[in-house]
Amino acid sequence: MQRAHFMHPSLQSIESQLGHSPLTQIAHPVLSQHKIDLWLKRDDLLHPVISGNKWRKLKYSVDHALSLGCDTLVSMGGAYSNHLHALACLGKKLGMHTIGYIRGERLQNLTPTLSDLAAWGMELRFISRADYRTLRWQGLPGKLPGQYWLPEGGAQTLALKGVMEMVDELGTGYDSVCLPCGTGATLAGVIQAVPKRVSVLGFAVFRKAEFLSDDVNRWLRRPYNNWQIVHDYSFGGFAKTGPELMAFIECFQALTAVPLEPVYTGKMLFGLFDWVAKGYFPPGQRIVAVHTGGLQGNRGYGHQRDQHTVNANDR
Ligand SMILES: Cc1ncc(COP(=O)(O)O)c(C=O)c1O
Repeated sequence: MQRAHFMHPSLQSIESQLGHSPLTQIAHPVLSQHKIDLWLKRDDLLHPVISGNKWRKLKYSVDHALSLGCDTLVSMGGAYSNHLHALACLGKKLGMHTIGYIRGERLQNLTPTLSDLAAWGMELRFISRADYRTLRWQGLPGKLPGQYWLPEGGAQTLALKGVMEMVDELGTGYDSVCLPCGTGATLAGVIQAVPKRVSVLGFAVFRKAEFLSDDVNRWLRRPYNNWQIVHDYSFGGFAKTGPELMAFIECFQALTAVPLEPVYTGKMLFGLFDWVAKGYFPPGQRIVAVHTGGLQGNRGYGHQRDQHTVNANDR
């Protein structure tokens, strides 16, 4: 089923440039050994910056902002935030002012992500971690007329609508969908859009993310029983990595020529391949995994992608 939604003409014009992302079959010895048919929804290819689930999650929120006559988009994130990166770029394209509340003190040298935000005209407001936590729960109470507030990660109900369109692009004939899970908004959109017989697996990228199921249930308008969140592949926490994960990513990239990052899609695929190797999927399953983009985040890992170069708490 194709959902047709009308958007502001300037967003419509960006959408027509982006088109649909490809669905690519993945060849890998582990898959053939277990007779698993894996396809990757390459949302990372949608746009060099507004890529992956970022475009899906932002489009209807920004459309809402435009319909309200707002000229300023305000949001929050860490020093490597994919969300702020996409928002700043999109704001610039649309001629809108953008403001980003950044977690933590201003560093002497901006991260590559923050340098991009500044170059695209985003006003950077650095706030303490305590104030950041307050902002996360309360939003921006004193926002000025013309300002539109987007929560961390762009996670609000309107985000689900764009994600559902991604599912429409998958067609039919698949048994499971796998995706990485941060706030759970993308997962909720996928759950709402897939046919009932399809199972959905979200791979949590945070440690101790058991609260996520409640969050996802809040996004959903009614109960669904075809989904679960897997908590075993966070590698110790958000943006943390380990030699096993990095070796998997190197090998996957060498075999498939698909670029990965270790924060979201890398972790999800590691978990998915572990499930395949453990025989958790029956032979003959057709699985779609969503590449949610965020490749700019690789710049936080330096040339060797050494985890010691990353301050994981700043993501
Ligand atoms: C690249 C990437 N993938 C996946 C996610 C997780 O999406 P969600 O927060 O909707 O669970 C994010 C965060 O928004 C992200 O930046």
